[in-house]
Amino acid sequence: MKRVPVNQESEQKLFFHNYARLPIAVAHGEGVWLVSDDGTRYLDMISGIGVNALGYGDKRLTEAISSQAAKLIHASNLFMMAPQFELAGKLLALSGLSKVFFANSGTEAIEAAIKIARKWAGQSGNQEKKEVLSLSNCFHGRTYGAMSLTAKQKYVDGFEPLLAGTGMIGFNDIADLEAKVSGKTAAVFIEVVQGEGGIHHISQTFIDRLKELREQYNFLIVADEIQAGCGRTGTFFSYTPLDADPDLVCLAKPLGGGLPLSAVIGSEKVADVLTYGNHGTTFGGNPVACAAGVAMIKAIEDDQLMEHAREIGTFINNELQKLAAKHSQILEIRQYGLMVGITVDKEAKYYAASALKKHLLINATSVNVIRLLPPLVISREEAQHCITTLDEIFTEETAEKSC
Ligand SMILES: Cc1ncc(COP(=O)(O)O)c(C=O)c1O
Repeated sequence: MKRVPVNQESEQKLFFHNYARLPIAVAHGEGVWLVSDDGTRYLDMISGIGVNALGYGDKRLTEAISSQAAKLIHASNLFMMAPQFELAGKLLALSGLSKVFFANSGTEAIEAAIKIARKWAGQSGNQEKKEVLSLSNCFHGRTYGAMSLTAKQKYVDGFEPLLAGTGMIGFNDIADLEAKVSGKTAAVFIEVVQGEGGIHHISQTFIDRLKELREQYNFLIVADEIQAGCGRTGTFFSYTPLDADPDLVCLAKPLGGGLPLSAVIGSEKVADVLTYGNHGTTFGGNPVACAAGVAMIKAIEDDQLMEHAREIGTFINNELQKLAAKHSQILEIRQYGLMVGITVDKEAKYYAASALKKHLLINATSVNVIRLLPPLVISREEAQHCITTLDEIFTEETAEKSC
């Protein structure tokens, strides 16, 4: 069979045009570095959009995957499979919650959470209690339910009508929260740190008021930990320092160590909502992905990567503050562990393109925010390399302007 060239021309011919792929064909990865077909090494501050927590080529992960693949790749949820049980047990121990459902992607976890919330609310006897709310500027995914909870119009345009009974509360806006929730509310979805939204942290006062209103109106709090979870912000769940006490938690991205895996973890309150056949997916909880998940969490714990994320995150923040004092292009820095947002004076994609030329992979989100989501294993030297490269980019831009 003729080999298809991996270039932008074939990309345009082969695929729907829904991804703006970079002009790099990646061949392999080593630690925090991605290597392209032509041997160029890129410092990866994107990690496959927050997935590759252990970077590339971690032996514990690749061995867990290959040994499970040799035993059993798939059997379906008609059977019990040890890696699923081990990972579920681990997630319950970490969260203190009661039940787990496994799916394959972040958006599927959100769909499952919406279904659990609506069915749970219906059991109250109030058939009007179906409203599912989220926060402005949020991102929860691109399937119909998740998209209906997602704030930005660009994800929604052309796909209406959306799921009925969804609505939005202003991010950190307590007056709006009080105005929007009621006895009809089934659930409020939150991201403690909004990722796609540009790295914005929910406030403690908002969480406290949300919990009070939950007491009053009896709804569920759903924590979308898909991007901020699994240790990225320095604790396994980003809600832990806020004592957010969610009823449902959605995890994905790094959970399967790079293989497709997501989870919904639920409290005792929702433990019996789903019954046989109510919800499910053929691939959910795939044993290879679950074995990878177990290895990934063990590595995070063994290598104390959450402490490391806090330490390197603080280092990056301090260094970025120095750059901000020097370069007027930097307007604001927001850092929570290894989730970093840098608001800049123009479209962030301009800086992402300049960084690419210097073999640094950074990502633009929310128009003017540079987002850094490096693997949790990034060393101080590698973080410094990123800072030095950004320094060069801002310096060169200023020099060009003054020419
Ligand atoms: C907070 C959050 N929720 C949900 C999703 C959707 O996850 P997926 O792309 O795996 O469907 C994402 C993806 O970026 C996310 O960041």
